[in-house]
Amino acid sequence: MGSLKQTVAALGTALVGLAGCGGEPGPEPNPLGPEPPEEADPAVVWQYLQEKDYQRYWHPESLASPGLHRSREPHGPLIRVYLNRQGHNSRPLGQEPLPPGTVVVLESYTSEPTLHTIDVMAKIPGHRPATNDWAFFRYGPSGTVRQTDHQIRLQAKTENRGCIHCHARTAEETDYLFQPRLAD
Ligand code: HEC
Repeated sequence: MGSLKQTVAALGTALVGLAGCGGEPGPEPNPLGPEPPEEADPAVVWQYLQEKDYQRYWHPESLASPGLHRSREPHGPLIRVYLNRQGHNSRPLGQEPLPPGTVVVLESYTSEPTLHTIDVMAKIPGHRPATNDWAFFRYGPSGTVRQTDHQIRLQAKTENRGCIHCHARTAEETDYLFQPRLAD
């Protein structure tokens, strides 16, 4: 007996196939699974990504270039970016602050391409007004925590570098999202 989750997963696969043929946007984000993280705990955030099966169900951040494509440093050289349902429903991105619960995942690949880093921005209600409630995380490909939100905050404060320091350039205009990806 297949569970509902398996049935939905199978349906998702079928839709991916169709989308591949017609050039249509990807499947609907997985409606099952947990709610977005409510704390800036890297283990909780990673668990959420796994249970939501983001690689299968989430929409590409950019509908214009949904697949693997080149990026500027420090990400890349090849990247693939995914957006959960909360973020997807608030398109066009960056015109208004993104809603609580939005999660964006940026996978960086070598030119092979081999996945080497997973960067995550998660909007957690009440987390931190100074970053519009965004929390930042860096993981290895199998979920090893490379940088916690706490470490990234310290890095911005004491060394003037890292995720927050750089993404803050776009804080006012596009809620910490980078301009090159906001074309759609
Ligand atoms: C020196 C600047 C810089 C640093 C440091 C940096 N980023 Fe980025 N980030 C960018 C740029 C530029 C893009 C857009 C890349 C593209 O689309 O080609 C981006 C894109 C992203 C995206 C996709 C959403 C968006 O903004 O379009 C996420 C998620 C992300 N970065 C997370 C992180 C995390 C987490 C860290 C730290 C571990 C980090 N970034 C460090 C410059 C930076």
